[in-house]
Amino acid sequence: MSGRTCLAIVLAAGEGTRMRSSLPKVLHAIAGRSLLAHVLEALREAGQTQTAVVIGPDHAAVAAEARAVLPQSQIFTQTERRGTAHAVLAAKAAFAQGADDVLVILGDVPLILPQTLTMLRSALDDGASVAVLGFRPADPIGYGRLVTKGDELIAIREHADASESERAITLCNSGLMALTGKHALAILEKIGTDNRKNEFYLTDAVAIARGMGLKTRALEVTEDEVSGINTKAQLAAAEAVLQQRLRQAVLDGGATLVAPETVFLSVDTKLGRDVTVEPYVVFGPGVTVEDGATIRSFSHIHGAHVGKGAIVGPFARLRPGAKLEENVHIGNFVEVKEALIEAGAKANHLSYIGDARVGAGANVGAGTITCNYDGTAKHRTDIGKGAFIGSNSALVAPVTIGDGAYVGSGSVITDDVPAGSLAIGRGRQTVKEGWAERLRQPKSAGKTKA
Ligand code: UD1
Ligand code: MG
Repeated sequence: MSGRTCLAIVLAAGEGTRMRSSLPKVLHAIAGRSLLAHVLEALREAGQTQTAVVIGPDHAAVAAEARAVLPQSQIFTQTERRGTAHAVLAAKAAFAQGADDVLVILGDVPLILPQTLTMLRSALDDGASVAVLGFRPADPIGYGRLVTKGDELIAIREHADASESERAITLCNSGLMALTGKHALAILEKIGTDNRKNEFYLTDAVAIARGMGLKTRALEVTEDEVSGINTKAQLAAAEAVLQQRLRQAVLDGGATLVAPETVFLSVDTKLGRDVTVEPYVVFGPGVTVEDGATIRSFSHIHGAHVGKGAIVGPFARLRPGAKLEENVHIGNFVEVKEALIEAGAKANHLSYIGDARVGAGANVGAGTITCNYDGTAKHRTDIGKGAFIGSNSALVAPVTIGDGAYVGSGSVITDDVPAGSLAIGRGRQTVKEGWAERLRQPKSAGKTKA
């Protein structure tokens, strides 16, 4: 396949009505990435040279997603849904560049692996003009059946059009197909609508190619890789398969997952060596955890960086922009957002730290809140190195606590605190001696009954 150019056509015009959602089907996500993005990433890794995405009308968001993942992708709109071959031909203008191979791939088959796409193309290298990816689903109802004779693929019969004996075939069409660029248009333009659904079936390409004296082939992969997503249940099933793959990859990379089946990862989660993840942790997109850090149970981490040897949780929440340097401790019921927590700093209990810097070695006491929002704008809190923030303090931003300063417990800090000083901002305590005892004395004491 060396040096052969490839046009990949991604069919993403489906409305996804069975998802019962206002979101276009291919924009639903698994492991923090849209179905379409999974497919486009697989194509990128397989090294395709040109990508065309066929979208439905009013699918500007799908086009935007395609461009965000593969900026050079060409977008085509299929204005009327008249079948899979019709959808491929919506991208006809893309054929003008004369790619050697044409790969048709469905936008709702997110678990496809790059090496499988390469394998499918290699069948063209071996002399086939049309190569189809088959699989044996547990339940074949609804799928096109691959009619084979020995090694040869004779035709694809759609479920609706298949005879009883054809329906007994277990090898089914995944919907992924490779065609030689030289013959692709000639084959596609011969496809008609002579079938039950009156649609232009891409699957007819097989019989047509054979009629032209060309070779056709079927290759087989496991169901996991090519099962398409039409319902929310199938979306959840694909998520489960992908999570298994991701957990295996982080375990192979040297992370310890105490109970892997309870840890949820995103495709881009990076866990270093000797990172320990306790049961029930969720990693949203954009997380890096460096070597030797521990993520304790029930933590939710998204868009955050956790430095070497840091300890997070249990029950911690790190939101986008949280950057923990080495040996930081973020404890239970602490939320960190858009904040740099420098080396060795600690916030162990019940705090909100947002739009802030916490200097190296500082200690943020239980219940401390950075009041970063005034109802219209966000403001920053800067806590110096080695500062000590007493429990239950409210730091009203913008505010700076100098290096080594102390804030007395229960303070509301509205003015900057110079380095090395103590700030107390709370009501003074008064003591009324004997007050409680007097309160408890019976009202009638000393009186006689009438
Ligand atoms: C198709 C195959 C079937 C295969 C199955 C695998 C055909 C005729 N049938 O059937 O052999 O077993 O996929 O899942 O190809 N699409 C468009 N425009 C259209 C029609 C479809 O973009 O006009 C897109 C859909 O968004 C979807 C894909 O093509 O991503 C497949 O279409 P779908 O209607 O789901 O075909 P199936 O009946 O599932
Ligand atoms: Mg389908």
